[in-house]
Amino acid sequence: MPKTAKNEPNEQINKLAQLLNRSKRNVQGYIQNFWGPCLKFLHNANILDVGCGPGATTFSAAIWGAKQVIGLEPQAAGSSQGSQTTFNKIKNELKLHQCKLEPIDFLKYNPDNPFDIVLFYDSINHIRETTADIRYDTAARQEQKQIIAHVRQVTATNGWVIMCDCSRKNFFGDFGIPSPVMPTINWKTHQCAAAWRSLLQEEGFGNLSINWRVPPRIKWAKPILDNAFVNYLTFSHFILRAQKLP
Ligand SMILES: C[S@@+](CC[C@H](N)C(=O)[O-])C[C@H]1O[C@@H](n2cnc3c(N)ncnc32)[C@H](O)[C@@H]1O
Repeated sequence: MPKTAKNEPNEQINKLAQLLNRSKRNVQGYIQNFWGPCLKFLHNANILDVGCGPGATTFSAAIWGAKQVIGLEPQAAGSSQGSQTTFNKIKNELKLHQCKLEPIDFLKYNPDNPFDIVLFYDSINHIRETTADIRYDTAARQEQKQIIAHVRQVTATNGWVIMCDCSRKNFFGDFGIPSPVMPTINWKTHQCAAAWRSLLQEEGFGNLSINWRVPPRIKWAKPILDNAFVNYLTFSHFILRAQKLP
């Protein structure tokens, strides 16, 4: 891991976890899973973190070497109260001044320069929430396609978009039973990973890959959990990465 601040990255991640009220294993594990093979692109990168909330991914990107990270947080659908305040507190305590919060709706954000990496950590399904299934509803699909068209505009050529969120398809959701592992998710306001993948392909993204949630405490179970079927029975939480092709 590259050094970017006065403290070692490990110590910074420790402090970030404390400030977010989460365990270090939780922050490091989930976020490392999120970056996956894109971790190596963080050094010196310009990053946009859409719907950044209190900034777990924003600050971890900076700790792992990003040059500039813009976090968009309008405190809109799916937000938790006070996330902007927490963001600014963490920024000051960790002295990560390369991170900046913009309280702007993603579709109204028109940066001067495109970003090397654009992130949606549990935010892609909230930008314009719909309960329609965009695999079958043409009007709703068209609306969500505008989000991906805007992702294309703000991503540099050969840059990456990384998104994770719950899918619409889940065993418990499909049978109307509360999920023991994802009790607060409204599955109907989420879209399937395959639906986002197809929109990304239509907008000229390639080199797509999908991973599925593996909780850090049982990372030894990755060969069993990291697939669509087992995740359908558990978390239904995907990580989708794609590169903007020239
Ligand atoms: C479930 S939260 C995830 C927050 C954060 N990424 C995290 O993992 O802690 C979804 C976030 O998306 C943000 N959001 C919703 N609509 C948005 C929009 N149109 N533009 C930017 N952010 C948006 C919400 O304010 C909320 O903070």
